[in-house]
Amino acid sequence: MKKVCTVVGARPQFIKLAVVSRELRESFQETLIHTGQHYDTDMSDIFFDELEIPKPDYNLGIHPTGGGAHGAMTGRMLMQIEEVLIQERPDLLLVFGDTNSTLAGALAAVKLHIPVCHVEAGNRLYTLDNPEEVNRIVTDHVSSIHLACTASGVDFLRREGFSDSVHLVGDPMYDAFCRYSARLDGSELAGLTDLEGARVSLPERFYYMTCHRQENTGRDEELAQIFQAMERLDAPVIYPVHPRNRERARRLSRDCKNMILTNPVGYCTSISLVCRAEKIITDSGGLQREAFFAQKPCVTVFDYVAWPETMENGCNRLAKPERDDILNKLGAKVCFDPAYKPFGDGCSAGRIVEQIQRFLK
Ligand code: UD1
Ligand code: UDP
Repeated sequence: MKKVCTVVGARPQFIKLAVVSRELRESFQETLIHTGQHYDTDMSDIFFDELEIPKPDYNLGIHPTGGGAHGAMTGRMLMQIEEVLIQERPDLLLVFGDTNSTLAGALAAVKLHIPVCHVEAGNRLYTLDNPEEVNRIVTDHVSSIHLACTASGVDFLRREGFSDSVHLVGDPMYDAFCRYSARLDGSELAGLTDLEGARVSLPERFYYMTCHRQENTGRDEELAQIFQAMERLDAPVIYPVHPRNRERARRLSRDCKNMILTNPVGYCTSISLVCRAEKIITDSGGLQREAFFAQKPCVTVFDYVAWPETMENGCNRLAKPERDDILNKLGAKVCFDPAYKPFGDGCSAGRIVEQIQRFLK
């Protein structure tokens, strides 16, 4: 049996891994490397337990350094992944998305002449101001297989000169959404806790917000504006806070009456909140797609379109981190076309494995 090494490190990668690994292990021996980029129990273990992901063969324990030194983090990952790859000698390395773990995995492999398969290839914002853009570009340019989630990803890759290596497979986040949303029964909402650890009971009507991007949480100004918008809404806002901005969020929300800040939640709780919320406010690449999957209006507080397909008919609108812009966009009319399925049919994991099989034949 041929061997595939998979490198993951951050929350959204565990979710994609959950559906892809299950399929991959039918045909390949998988060695799983967790860089340690996300390490809190509610950012990592909870996903492995809840989504029944096999335990990593290697956990490198490389935590992000405070202050966001990306070079140091990526460099340490590169050194340690290289050591593992030299020992394991896989036939191929599999990476997802655009985190520092993705980049480190891809660089370590290509230097050892191990082919790289990139899932979620071809996303582009066309600005290097976004910390993840360089990870996307470099990973694509050292990969041998480019698996795009949507047609826009394929277009971006073709514009950069890739052709035979590009395949449209659909979005494993949609696979995960289909698989796990079918199991929701409400019990997944029982464990919500506030930042002090006290139980939170869910209001009947609510909005669901996540906000963790450096662009929105790196200074007080932007986050304070976003909070002011949330304070004006006609129902409470549930906001699971990413550890990156826990202290800032706690401080800025001291006088807020309409927001309910919680600890990060597990995946099933998160998609259950998406399915029950009135609307979604986010800066997350994953959450804006899940809003679209669940046909919930979404406002993405960000300057760039990350997933063009979600923007059709105003289903997802960009807003600046400014109170009035967010409120205006949240008030705009939205129209979903249930027949429009740009993220595939929920079976992308099978296609990902098929492409790896064809490549390694
Ligand atoms: C990373 C990804 C981003 C992705 C996000 C998913 C990069 C450059 N960015 O951003 O694309 O959207 O993951 O959530 O890779 N921290 C903890 N505990 C944890 C994890 C993080 O306390 O379990 C804190 C650390 O202090 C760290 C900060 O959060 O300094 C930021 O973590 P990092 O992994 O650098 O970036 P994310 O914002 O999580
Ligand atoms: N998510 C979660 N718990 C939370 C917040 C988000 O499980 O407290 C899920 C969310 O439903 C989506 C994924 O995490 O599936 C998105 O990850 P994140 O926003 O961290 O990263 P991004 O998608 O922006 O790269």
